[in-house]
Amino acid sequence: MDIDGQKRAAAARALEFVEPGMRLGLGTGSTARHFVELLAERVRGGLRIVAVPTSEATQRDAQRLGVPLTSLDETPALDLTVDGADEIAPDLSLIKGGGGALLREKIVAAASDRFVVVVDDEKLVDRLGERFAVPVEVVQFGWQATAAALERLGAEPELRQTDGRAFVTDGGNFILDCRFRAIDDAREMECRLNMTVGVVENGLFIGRTSTVIVASDAGVEILPRGGGRSS
Ligand code: 5RP
Repeated sequence: MDIDGQKRAAAARALEFVEPGMRLGLGTGSTARHFVELLAERVRGGLRIVAVPTSEATQRDAQRLGVPLTSLDETPALDLTVDGADEIAPDLSLIKGGGGALLREKIVAAASDRFVVVVDDEKLVDRLGERFAVPVEVVQFGWQATAAALERLGAEPELRQTDGRAFVTDGGNFILDCRFRAIDDAREMECRLNMTVGVVENGLFIGRTSTVIVASDAGVEILPRGGGRSS
């Protein structure tokens, strides 16, 4: 199975967690998009759910596919959110925000009883930050000063750009992709980043994951907290 097939297989397994009447959060990214497509098939088959999208992109996909949408204003408590991730550590802590949607993703995850993460096995790491920089969403005003403050926390911040221009999030902010030599205490770092003036939110998701579904060449499995693997 190629990587895209693996992502779809993980998303298909996540669909087994969906029950009629649920209020869902819909993640952002290529794996989450597979979930939205598969969910839409079930909706066309008569499944009744409502969903909150975590980005404008996911909102467009869901609308096009006919998934009934709501907002956190109308539906502030959700049963289940299904989303992708960029890195997963053995304790199921995550780095997210590769697609730039980390702020809405974290708000929606925080509003959900259950947060199910769907990935291919290339996302598994021993320690967060091993491969992926931590995306940090910052307000545009004074972003260089915010970057300097993040450097004092040990980060090497780089302004995210697309086509030579600063990437702007759905919330109108910039992203600083922050490499760290090592993140010794991810929970503490999540707090310290958010205490930095100018930071809106960061892509460390610590203690939020209920379940991780990992797809690999060998098949799809649920990852237990602590790192061992079982199907
Ligand atoms: C978007 C995210 C995505 O979930 C993350 O980047 C994984 O994306 P993909 O499923 O395309 O690998 O956090 O902000």
